[in-house]
Amino acid sequence: MSDSFIIAIDGPAAAGKGTLSRGIAEQYGFHHLDTGLTYRAAAKALIDAGLPLDDETIAEKMAREVELTGLDRDILSRHEIGEAASKIAVMPAVRRALVEAQRRFSERPPGTVLDGRDIGTVVCPAAPVKLYVTASPEVRAKRRYDEIIGKGGSADFDAIFEDVKRRDDRDMNRADSPMKPANDAHLLDTSEMSIEAAFQAARSIIDAALSRNA
Ligand code: C5P
Repeated sequence: MSDSFIIAIDGPAAAGKGTLSRGIAEQYGFHHLDTGLTYRAAAKALIDAGLPLDDETIAEKMAREVELTGLDRDILSRHEIGEAASKIAVMPAVRRALVEAQRRFSERPPGTVLDGRDIGTVVCPAAPVKLYVTASPEVRAKRRYDEIIGKGGSADFDAIFEDVKRRDDRDMNRADSPMKPANDAHLLDTSEMSIEAAFQAARSIIDAALSRNA
């Protein structure tokens, strides 16, 4: 039995799960791990060392060296790193290595929020709260586009839209731990919901689970 109350948050990129997860962790005083960063860190280590992205043994070695403390979103957010991460994320040995580290993290008291693609299904299947946060591919591509333009960059909506669909396809159709809602996950579709409304919906689900656990 663990002393940690685990909140599992899954869903595709740009559905709002990162903002939601950070807000929830802050609200409840829980530790937060964006598990996407663990795949990104392993991918970046390979790229920096000039190593191939298609050798499972080498990729597993890099995955085992990933330190969960100090994962920097700014450094790891680059587009090529996300692409490379989703390529090595299809490898079972890489997933095993990172899932072990993620499970150890999830045990930290008093509670943890883990966000990713397979938290409710594989990493923490016994989590008392599971949320699956999603939004249509168009809405997610538009959010990405607005974010880049908002930072003064230039972007091509159609290219971003294709990219979102390609990443979804790779994450949903891989053999090992495909992205999908757990049977007992609560679905939150943020296509037409503000982040504030999603946060309130999540809070009522979490509060109900906390009072059942008390
Ligand atoms: O969420 P983020 O875009 O940072 O994740 C990068 C990639 O890492 C995803 O596209 C996915 O392939 C992989 N990933 C995963 N399982 C997780 C988190 C991320 O396979 N729990």
